[in-house]
Amino acid sequence: MSEQPRKIVIVGATSAIAEHCARLWVQGKPAELILIGRDTSRLERVAADLKVRSPQSVCNPLRANFLDPDAIQTTVDGIAAAGKIDIVLIAHGALTEQEDCQNKLRTCRETLDINGISPVLYAEAFARHLAATSHGTLALIGSVAGDRGRKSNYVYGAAKGMVTRYAQGLQHRFAGTGVKVVLIKPGPTDTPMTAHLKGQGAKLASVEDVARQIVLAIEQGKSITYVPGKWRLIMWVIRHLPDFIFNKLDI
Ligand SMILES: NC(=O)c1ccc[n+]([C@@H]2O[C@H](COP(=O)([O-])OP(=O)(O)OC[C@H]3O[C@@H](n4cnc5c(N)ncnc54)[C@H](OP(=O)(O)O)[C@@H]3O)[C@@H](O)[C@H]2O)c1
Repeated sequence: MSEQPRKIVIVGATSAIAEHCARLWVQGKPAELILIGRDTSRLERVAADLKVRSPQSVCNPLRANFLDPDAIQTTVDGIAAAGKIDIVLIAHGALTEQEDCQNKLRTCRETLDINGISPVLYAEAFARHLAATSHGTLALIGSVAGDRGRKSNYVYGAAKGMVTRYAQGLQHRFAGTGVKVVLIKPGPTDTPMTAHLKGQGAKLASVEDVARQIVLAIEQGKSITYVPGKWRLIMWVIRHLPDFIFNKLDI
């Protein structure tokens, strides 16, 4: 009897990091992918590319709402009703300018919503279904920015900090069950999100490497993964710096 393809749901499937994870997932073995995003044409482009790479895979683009709890619930319930889910990757996010968040409360609110509230709502909606089958891995992309508030990006960082604390609670809830919760904390990575930093000469990890490490962490069901791994130590130091030193840093 042939093995059923794995069912993988990606929320924010047009993200460069997520797209590279999807490419790895369809490599070798066909998979059933549900690609959730806000823009149909971008989703269709990602789905078409994956189909070329893996003609046996099923790639279903699904345009969805990212903020309305009822709409998110309906989207997720519909996916779960169609069969058991193996992996959920919640990847969407937006790195807004910190100064814009300080000057425009609307931007501040949108930053908190899309990077914090929205991933939590999606995760919570999927968690209910994974709990019912006691099966599957739920992965959330946080950020090293969530480890300690810094003047350069503390609103984005606060939202990512929410994702960190949320994932910690979900891991506690599912401990000892068949459900794994994986929190990924990337450092600066070469994607459209950081194009402006690249122009300023920032050192960025390659998206291919980051995706490889994320896919591995999900396979292993690791609870927290810094990618690249050096960020675990860097952020340990930053978290533990006393205020009198930390406050002198321009970071
Ligand atoms: N790149 C980095 O250095 C880095 C570092 C740490 C953490 N991360 C995190 O990694 C994840 C993936 O980021 P990436 O680097 O792959 O960035 P990316 O290529 O810019 O992708 C961002 C994704 O978020 C979606 N998105 C943005 N604003 C949205 C909104 N208002 N409503 C719905 N979807 C929205 C985008 O959808 P559209 O395609 O429709 O715009 C896209 O799918 C994010 O959670 C990010 O915070 C990235």
